[in-house]
Amino acid sequence: MKTYFVRTFGCQMNKHDSERIVGMLESQGLSRAEEPDSADVIVFNTCCVREHADERLRGQVSSLKRLKTAGATPLIAVGGCIGQRDGERLLEQLPHVDVVFGTHNLAHLPALLESARAARTPVVEVLEASADFASDLPSKREHDWHAWVPIMVGCDNFCSYCIVPFVRGRERSRPFEQVTRECEKLSSEGVLEVTLLGQNVNSYGRDLYGEPRFADLLRAVAATGIARVRFVTSHPKDISPATIEAMAETPEVCQYLHLPVQSGSDRILEAMNRGYTQAHYMSVVESLYDRMPELALSTDVIVGFPGETDDDFEATMEVVRQARYDQAFTFIYSPREGTAAARLDDTPPREVTRERFDALVQEVQSSALRKNVAYVGSTHSILVEGLSKRDDSMLSGRTASNKVVHAPLPPGTSVESLAGRFADVTIEEAQTWFLLGRGG
Ligand code: SAH
Ligand code: SF4
Ligand code: F3S
Repeated sequence: MKTYFVRTFGCQMNKHDSERIVGMLESQGLSRAEEPDSADVIVFNTCCVREHADERLRGQVSSLKRLKTAGATPLIAVGGCIGQRDGERLLEQLPHVDVVFGTHNLAHLPALLESARAARTPVVEVLEASADFASDLPSKREHDWHAWVPIMVGCDNFCSYCIVPFVRGRERSRPFEQVTRECEKLSSEGVLEVTLLGQNVNSYGRDLYGEPRFADLLRAVAATGIARVRFVTSHPKDISPATIEAMAETPEVCQYLHLPVQSGSDRILEAMNRGYTQAHYMSVVESLYDRMPELALSTDVIVGFPGETDDDFEATMEVVRQARYDQAFTFIYSPREGTAAARLDDTPPREVTRERFDALVQEVQSSALRKNVAYVGSTHSILVEGLSKRDDSMLSGRTASNKVVHAPLPPGTSVESLAGRFADVTIEEAQTWFLLGRGG
């Protein structure tokens, strides 16, 4: 086994896990292949939050069958949330898979690959819960200047549509000092930005300390020398005034918040088991803007949940009109076997859901553009990521508020000398999903 190829689906937690997978494979002496066709080991780190993610995995793994028949014998491993959910069953659908692993045993992947290779039969290992946090494993970060730092794993919320609690297990926080020590180390290695990860960061610490300690953690991480501190995901029922205060008072904490609303209708929110009302959500939004008038806010919305009427959808639109979102991730409800909502019927007709979805996307776009237009004429510090994918005479980076900014590469400079550094950019033009500016 000399080369590897890792493909990642799903959320930031999976991206982080993949950095650990790559770190382990490289520490075993494997090097990266440009494409699956030339790899000795192909790893799929999977997601099953919606049907679409499942389908993509099946398509991609099936297309690799040709490699197995063409004489080369790469090992194919499927891990992450689908591995955790399906275990042994996955081999019935995809018999040419060699290793199935789950969300709790990343660390065993090298050993599982080795036994599959030696035994020439598929190996399946799925555990109920994990002993360690993946952060204790080696990591190969995608960017030198950014690190994902998990502060908790799992989820206890059981929103009625959601598979995550079933595939990620119960909520477990990582000890406070372990998180701050890791951030100190990252800072000394030159990392400028960390993203603290958890399915519900606002309940961080409840299992360890008997009360949430997320606000304290934010302040402590900001004191480790990291320039920008981000975090996902916040739950509207658990975000506390103390957290809002810590965000507002700590300059290193980015004034950007992802606060999934899912629906604006109290009836649907109840059926979703979200634990808040539209009024509560909007009061949180108001107190956020009171303390942080420049805050960038994003959300997730599900359209077409069972029982959703025109009035329910209108309540969602009302929230989107009021909340001044910078961005919203919009999803069509996808029933997931084993969740409580999968037993509900009365799913709105496909065309109705489609129409609602399109109207929602329109509203989100106008809101995003309104927020961006307000940037024109002001100067912001961006963390330069590299050349723009659309135009290689332009640099791209992000503001603390997570806005993508493109600006011309200053004459006589190279992208290598600027990537991974801060630069001041004056914004000259606003588009829906990005800003255009000029250095200085
Ligand atoms: N823990 C996070 C993210 C969970 S998954 C949170 O609570 O916000 C990311 C998003 O996927 C969710 O916010 C939700 O909008 C969407 N999602 C989850 N399950 C879904 C389903 N069955 N159908 C459609 N969208 C879903
Ligand atoms: Fe899923 Fe709800 Fe947990 Fe988020 S909080 S991961 S939506 S169960
Ligand atoms: Fe998907 Fe698993 Fe994340 S189901 S959204 S990769 S926790």
